Amino acid sequence: MDKFNAIVIRENNNQLSFQREMIDLSMLSEGNVIVRVNYSSLNYKDMLAFQPNGGVVNNYPMIPGVDFSGEVVQSDDPEFVPGDEVLLTGYDVGVTHTGGFAEYARVPGKWLVHIPETMSMREAMIWGTAGFTAALAVEKLQQLGLKNPKARILVAGATGGVGSVAIALLKQLGFQSVTGLVHSGEREKTAREFGADHVITASRLDKDQKPLTSAKYDYAIDAVGGEVTSQILPTISYGGSVAITGNAGGTQLLTTVLPFILRAVSLVGIDSVAVDSDKRQWIWSLLASDWDITDQLQVTEIGIDQIPDEVAKIQSGHHTGRTIIKF
Ligand SMILES: NC(=O)c1ccc[n+]([C@@H]2O[C@H](COP(=O)([O-])OP(=O)(O)OC[C@H]3O[C@@H](n4cnc5c(N)ncnc54)[C@H](OP(=O)(O)O)[C@@H]3O)[C@@H](O)[C@H]2O)c1
Repeated sequence: MDKFNAIVIRENNNQLSFQREMIDLSMLSEGNVIVRVNYSSLNYKDMLAFQPNGGVVNNYPMIPGVDFSGEVVQSDDPEFVPGDEVLLTGYDVGVTHTGGFAEYARVPGKWLVHIPETMSMREAMIWGTAGFTAALAVEKLQQLGLKNPKARILVAGATGGVGSVAIALLKQLGFQSVTGLVHSGEREKTAREFGADHVITASRLDKDQKPLTSAKYDYAIDAVGGEVTSQILPTISYGGSVAITGNAGGTQLLTTVLPFILRAVSLVGIDSVAVDSDKRQWIWSLLASDWDITDQLQVTEIGIDQIPDEVAKIQSGHHTGRTIIKF
């Protein structure tokens, strides 16, 4: 483990640069477990980490990568021994703590999850942060009453990481009316390939911002945020719920209280970063069993040198589905 490969973002005169470097353990953040990283995955937050004003990384040099799976090689945590297969999503990894875009990671053991026996390290990153978040959103909607297979469900950001996994999961669970909301018409075909029964483009949402319109959907998972969320809320039926997971399209929410007080609509937030460890372990065991759809997801596998190009695709809106990185 003398020297190993990592993507390092450096700052010089307010300019960011990033490249593959040979580094040693001294460049990794502190932690009581060292993991030989096998896979990481690409997420929206990684794209922000590469941007000068992305709001994700403030201290440089930084190794980005908000998730990884791999094998424990050294541990001072009694919960983990060398050879254990583990995964990590969230916490400070790839943000303030050096992340998954390296052949080794050093982290606090309490952030790690044992990979369930029936899941491989590759499958763990096919889910990755985006898939774990999609699963949290589906589970939250189930808690709020999503059960009827005929429920009309809207998934906004349908061709992205969170949205594409959410669609596949909802179809696996037997929901018959899943509508994918796409940014533009050229993504309609992709959303159908990802399993959407119907597709709507963002431009076809009601731009008049009426407080309430005809009820078209019973539930929604929204990875887009901003104007799109503002336009979804008036279309939700009585007692329905919207799980908001992201802000790929904006942060400002313009709404009235009417969907909430006249239609009893719930707007719930989904966070995957600080979920407690019992819930993490439970969701991952579900993903390894009844909810396992990894063989149905469209996955692109890349190597470390392709990371910058793939990150640029997320930034320019040319990235679809899930991308995993093999180390
Ligand atoms: N809450 C959490 O813990 C958590 C976890 C993971 C991700 N997230 C957040 O969830 C969001 C999505 O993440 P992701 O990994 O799925 O990103 P992604 O793969 O880049 O997908 C984003 C999707 O949003 C679409 N989109 C962007 N702007 C849009 C607009 N104005 N109207 C309609 N669609 C629009 C994109 O379509 P085009 O490609 O066609 O533009 C793309 O399909 C991000 O904000 C991310 O930070 C949150």
